[in-house]
Amino acid sequence: MHILLMGPPGAGKGTQAVKLVEAFHIPHISTGDMFRAAVKEGTPLGKQAKEYMDAGQLVPDSVTIGIVKERLAKPDCERGFILDGFPRTLDQADALDRTLCELGIRLDRVINISVPAEELVKRMTGRRICRSCGATYHIHFNPPAQAGICDKCGGELYQRADDQEQTVTKRLAVYSAQTQPLIEYYQDKGLYTEIDGQQDIDKVFADIVASLRGEQ
Ligand code: AP5
Ligand code: ZN
Repeated sequence: MHILLMGPPGAGKGTQAVKLVEAFHIPHISTGDMFRAAVKEGTPLGKQAKEYMDAGQLVPDSVTIGIVKERLAKPDCERGFILDGFPRTLDQADALDRTLCELGIRLDRVINISVPAEELVKRMTGRRICRSCGATYHIHFNPPAQAGICDKCGGELYQRADDQEQTVTKRLAVYSAQTQPLIEYYQDKGLYTEIDGQQDIDKVFADIVASLRGEQ
């Protein structure tokens, strides 16, 4: 199954992708995770991406499209994937269409997790991530058993640099201007499903699975 997972920053794409990977055993491809890994490793790509990420801006299409094309050409994508955080501009969507066409892959569904802006600010500013295993928590909505410590591996939790309120506001504005127009793009292709992201994590997941199984 080839799935696009869309939604504004902080909507819960990463949280749901982890559950979808467990259920469907297909790779999770997140451009945000790819950029954060490059920043951590200090590669030239990471150095370039960091400037844009810290400012709440999109990394230029010329960079982003290249790394996604390379990833999608790997054999593990033939059976399926969950593409999270890409495309984010109409040019990226266009490039994705062409790449998938070359690879002989058809998208099955575009899931958009919808959450109002004021809730997104709370979700991002309260998000904490495990430094060792990458698990995501929220100080109120999904807290670890012991504050600041990962339940899964005992690692230390940290706040993403771009989750400060000022940057969060910029990211939401960038989303409205550059990414929201993609909703119409995929509605026109007949692939689009909107999921109410303002429910608890398990209910959001159940709605996504129902949509993928054609029950919604
Ligand atoms: P990226 O990492 O893709 O960030 P994002 O799209 O802004 O999304 P987030 O990771 O912030 O949120 P999410 O939807 O995954 O939510 P999560 O599950 O963590 O991108 C980062 C940056 O990289 C961009 O700003 C840009 O610079 C660059 N970039 C990436 N892709 C790019 C592209 N294609 N082109 C150009 N640049 C690109 O959940 C959020 C919080 O809410 C968590 O704390 C979680 O525990 C909690 N939560 C989740 N679900 C629920 C629920 N149902 N109820 C209550 N709380 C919940
Ligand atoms: Zn951990």
